[in-house]
Amino acid sequence: MAYDCISLTRHEMIGIVTLQRPQALNALNHQMIEELEQVFMELETDEKVKAVIITGEKHFAAGADINDMLDFNPEQARAFSFRHCFARIEAFPKPVLAAISGFALGGGLELALVCDWRIADNTARLGLPEINLGIFPGAGGTLRLPRLIGAARAKEMIFSGKPINAQQALEYGLINQLADDALAEAIQTAEMLASKPPVALKLAKQCINQAFDMDGVKAIEFESVAWASCFATRDQREGMKAFIEKRKPEFTGT
Ligand code: HXC
Repeated sequence: MAYDCISLTRHEMIGIVTLQRPQALNALNHQMIEELEQVFMELETDEKVKAVIITGEKHFAAGADINDMLDFNPEQARAFSFRHCFARIEAFPKPVLAAISGFALGGGLELALVCDWRIADNTARLGLPEINLGIFPGAGGTLRLPRLIGAARAKEMIFSGKPINAQQALEYGLINQLADDALAEAIQTAEMLASKPPVALKLAKQCINQAFDMDGVKAIEFESVAWASCFATRDQREGMKAFIEKRKPEFTGT
């Protein structure tokens, strides 16, 4: 499928989704959000793709498109919400990485927050500047940022609107890795993840994500059922046999 505001390329088993409105620092407009949702639907059923990277041309994304939002009334603002698209990316059954260069602001940072793994380089500036526009983060930032870095630091970022650099983001636990070249490092990490057993990876991701929304007893029960279902896969036998035979496992995703 052809896209206007994003591009999809494949690097062996990795799908690379690039946000492409560089004239507006990849500000997320309605069309881009629709295309993002569409591309993740396409990648979900693509069996050759084992992990996905989201990145942006030059910058990651400087937030939702402010031109789109200027004249919104509350109903229109709610309809503009990114939540369906972001929920799809968060629940995507394969690992999703964000490779962050330049600005990752507002909805752009919130997009990075729904990814499983964030890698930034020294050009990155990460922040939630919405407060300076008379609003506050509305694409999951008030939930996901405190979960990741704690309420105190999240409030500091959301109330002040001040961006942080990649070194600070690493110290806060907002990114997993700081690299010289975010995309090159993300490709290496994605290749490593693509070599893991996909069913176990998918279930581990589901357990971690769902546990946030469950009480502890239910979360442990959910984990126990998911964990046991690994024993219906060939990859479980292969992983354990390979260990016993002192060789590298060859996972097939079955
Ligand atoms: C629309 C944007 C934009 C945005 C940048 N541009 N960010 N257009 N929406 N969010 C456009 C500028 O208007 C300009 O277009 C071009 O990109 C280059 O930007 P400059 O401002 O000239 O660049 P620079 O001086 O380097 O400053 C970069 C910047 C600044 C610091 C990132 O652009 C900025 O503050 N942008 C807004 C960031 C922001 O507030 N994000 C949160 C949005 S609200 P022209 O045509 O003039 O060249 C949000 C809500 C999420 O994300 C929830 C949704 C449900």
